[in-house]
Amino acid sequence: MHRRTRIRLAQLLCLALALTAGVTVTGSARAAALLPYQDPSLPVATRVDDLLARMTLDEKLGQMTQAERGSVSTSDITTYRLGSILSGGGSSPSPNNATSWANMYDTFQQAALATPLGIPIIYGVDAVHGHNNVYGATIFPHNIGLGATRDQALVQQIGQAVATEVTGTGLDWDFAPCLCVARNDRWGRTYESFGEVPAIPNAMTAFVTGLQGSTLGGPTSVLATAKHYVGDGGTTGGVDQGNTQLSEAELRAIHLPPFQAAIARGVGSVMISYSSWNGVKLHGHQYLISTVLKGELAFTGFVVSDWNGIDQIDGQGGFTATEVRTAINAGIDMVMVPQAWKNFITLLRSEVQAGRVTMARIDDANRRILTKKFELALFERPLTDRAYTGTVGSAAHRALARQAVAKSQVMLKNSANLLPLARDNMRIFVAGKNADDIGNQSGGWTISWQGSSGNITPGTTILHGIRNAVGSTSTVTYNRRGTGINSSYDVAIAVVGETPYAEGQGDRSGSMALDREDLRAIATLRNSGVPVIVLLVSGRPMDIATALPGWDALIASWLPGTEGDGVADVLFGAVAPTGTLPVTWMASASQQPINDGDGKTPLFPLGFGLTY
Ligand code: BGC
Ligand code: BGC
Repeated sequence: MHRRTRIRLAQLLCLALALTAGVTVTGSARAAALLPYQDPSLPVATRVDDLLARMTLDEKLGQMTQAERGSVSTSDITTYRLGSILSGGGSSPSPNNATSWANMYDTFQQAALATPLGIPIIYGVDAVHGHNNVYGATIFPHNIGLGATRDQALVQQIGQAVATEVTGTGLDWDFAPCLCVARNDRWGRTYESFGEVPAIPNAMTAFVTGLQGSTLGGPTSVLATAKHYVGDGGTTGGVDQGNTQLSEAELRAIHLPPFQAAIARGVGSVMISYSSWNGVKLHGHQYLISTVLKGELAFTGFVVSDWNGIDQIDGQGGFTATEVRTAINAGIDMVMVPQAWKNFITLLRSEVQAGRVTMARIDDANRRILTKKFELALFERPLTDRAYTGTVGSAAHRALARQAVAKSQVMLKNSANLLPLARDNMRIFVAGKNADDIGNQSGGWTISWQGSSGNITPGTTILHGIRNAVGSTSTVTYNRRGTGINSSYDVAIAVVGETPYAEGQGDRSGSMALDREDLRAIATLRNSGVPVIVLLVSGRPMDIATALPGWDALIASWLPGTEGDGVADVLFGAVAPTGTLPVTWMASASQQPINDGDGKTPLFPLGFGLTY
């Protein structure tokens, strides 16, 4: 008999024995009835092979499908064997709190466990600066602020804290970190970038280790995502989802290194960018996905598409069979089809049946996805570990966020050593639209996709941070517009900048200056003759060069999140400023794009930052 046939027969015999055992053994003897894929003592590769051999085509198609929580029922999960669910930005259960997230997760997971093979779902979310969809979660500074810290160890700790909060709500997978190298500050996602040169995001891939742990499968291990592959931050004009026009050598030199660094850290998934490279959409780019990422860079995790990203391959709305085939054959393993997931399954099935997508490709995608599910120990621990639910928004995590806020402040001007301020016997006037607004200081991707102004989640505003910092002999007066200031005050603090936005809605093709409200508030403060400190709360550098001579001090506070005490720590000298610019600061918007080494004269160069 042929050797291979003999092995197959032997396997079949084992299978038959196992199945027989499975129906006859009950109770305490059940452990002995484990099928190989259910046996945690076997190597992951063995378990994957065993499971794959038991799966029908429909089960495999389900594993490759990711639907949005609002567009699936639990019975859909069971019937269609769905492999993954996501929460889009702001897609939360009601009421929005950690316990109901955990309950929701467990309900979805039970539906997956009710399938014949019981393959757990993997649930993904954008926890991009804390578990930011969850009311009451700790909101950390956005990546641009973390980049300003240059502190790898801190960023790794933040990753761990985020993973703990995500674990407490049951979820398995974080669509973070964004490793974009933002080359044009007009781009609405500039704040999602750790910095404009690859060295900064490279270092900040420590976040991957924080999320996942040194290996997957720890009690709070969450799968990380390196996104968006590749060149998302390099589009012409800084247009979101635009076209990155670069030579291959430039693409490799600027935009690829953070992905290599993340792969070296074992990142479990990579998300494809909406953008194009020299006119070709990344979602259909076989060379960059299969040849470079999976081949040359030896990425062994799985590749996920972005939200309706495959729809854009042909430039028309919606997706076609051709787009499904193109995306899968390019090397995408799991497709984020928030609503139209049934149609996706139907089209992919017919492409496979017609032989235009090979079974080998389907098996490869499944192998990659299942490997991560096994490594995460989802088969052994599919449900929420409620021991961590109480960590969402915990004092310890908020203390860590406060530390990150303080370290992310970049002091850009400090005339006459105005900073640090004394805590005692001070009359302080605070103004500006971002002084007392948790929503504004948190930015996009907070509670909702776009974020919003107002009291959207518990935290400490910058104003309250200032109030907390001063002694009882000082007074802090606040008026948003600056009304009421007079020369009796010792100092005025204007907290100004941007209001929340996400993705393309934050693209700024025109002016990048402060708005009229901010300029008026600052002018009112200045007219009093009191020294003025400007705190710029923004997702990127702003065009301030002409106004700066009239300001006595300037701090770039970025988008600090919920812990405004960290800003006050730097104002009052509890923490000396050490943050340095992760991006070049334009002298005027007309310089965009402006980057380190391009010969343009900035207002402040990359790496600039004062201390006192
Ligand atoms: C964004 C991704 C995000 C996904 C899921 C997309 O619009 O580009 O960064 O992970 O939505 O919310
Ligand atoms: C979702 C986001 C997603 C975006 C893409 C929104 O409706 O909430 O998660 O990134 O759509 O356009």
